[in-house]
Amino acid sequence: MEDVLKLNQIHKIYEGKAPFQALNNISLNVASGEFIGIMGPSGAGKTTLLNLIATLERPTSGNVIINDQQLDQLNKEQLSIFRRRMLGFVFQDFVLLDTLTLEENIMMPLVLEKEDPLIIKRKVKKIAEKLGIASHLNKRPFEVSGGQKQRTGIARAIIHNPDLLLADEPTGNLDSKTSQAVLEEMLRVNEEENMTMLMVTHDPIAASYCERVIFIKDGELFNEIYKGNNRKLFFQQIIDVLSMLGGNENEFLSARY
Ligand SMILES: Nc1ncnc2c1ncn2[C@@H]1O[C@H](COP(=O)(O)OP(=O)(O)OP(=O)(O)O)[C@@H](O)[C@H]1O
Ligand SMILES: [Mg+2]
Repeated sequence: MEDVLKLNQIHKIYEGKAPFQALNNISLNVASGEFIGIMGPSGAGKTTLLNLIATLERPTSGNVIINDQQLDQLNKEQLSIFRRRMLGFVFQDFVLLDTLTLEENIMMPLVLEKEDPLIIKRKVKKIAEKLGIASHLNKRPFEVSGGQKQRTGIARAIIHNPDLLLADEPTGNLDSKTSQAVLEEMLRVNEEENMTMLMVTHDPIAASYCERVIFIKDGELFNEIYKGNNRKLFFQQIIDVLSMLGGNENEFLSARY
């Protein structure tokens, strides 16, 4: 299958008074339609990796190729169009606009693409129903709960059908029921729309929804495992790798236990 994303020998050093190597020689190929989990202790470099793919940071060396396009060959303007069309983001601190309703927030990517208003309306309704926020569409972000905001962020990230969805702890602040609803919706979109997804998570249950989980430790690839056809078994394997990873095991498990 065709690769949507290729990372070739990525190194990332944050310069400054005390330069810090956040990523060391990461190579990774992601095939079209894969749903990938990224795990690793706090500070391992997960968000850094996502930011490089998101074109928000540049690697110190190595290159990122998305849909055969080498990102460092695009100028600033091309990058912003590329980002808008090809990518969807669910980031921890990627906030909704408080002056807009949830509906207006969700439709933003389609408005930027000058999509037909009737089609926009229909798409927003459909996605809001799936995510259980349809009855809140006329409210503004400060009038709804954290989980409802998070689901609005996910709706906005996927409404334009990006080639690649990048999600940093999309279920981080959600209770287990809402978390499950969000993961099931992501899985549905992954399967039905064949949308390729990369999800950073500390939660082994969330990771068990993925087809493949990649583990990062101290900026390096530590291990990767594939799901067979048994999510429970995969969950156990994820726990096993996390305990091999060492660090603070409670950090991973405290999300739920
Ligand atoms: N802008 C920056 N300047 C300097 N160092 C940075 C910067 N951003 C991140 N770092 C450092 O790089 C390392 C990796 O950070 P990163 O945010 O990628 O970790 P993470 O795996 O996402 O952790 P967490 O699970 O806590 O979100 C950390 O040690 C962090 O302190
Ligand atoms: Mg992070």
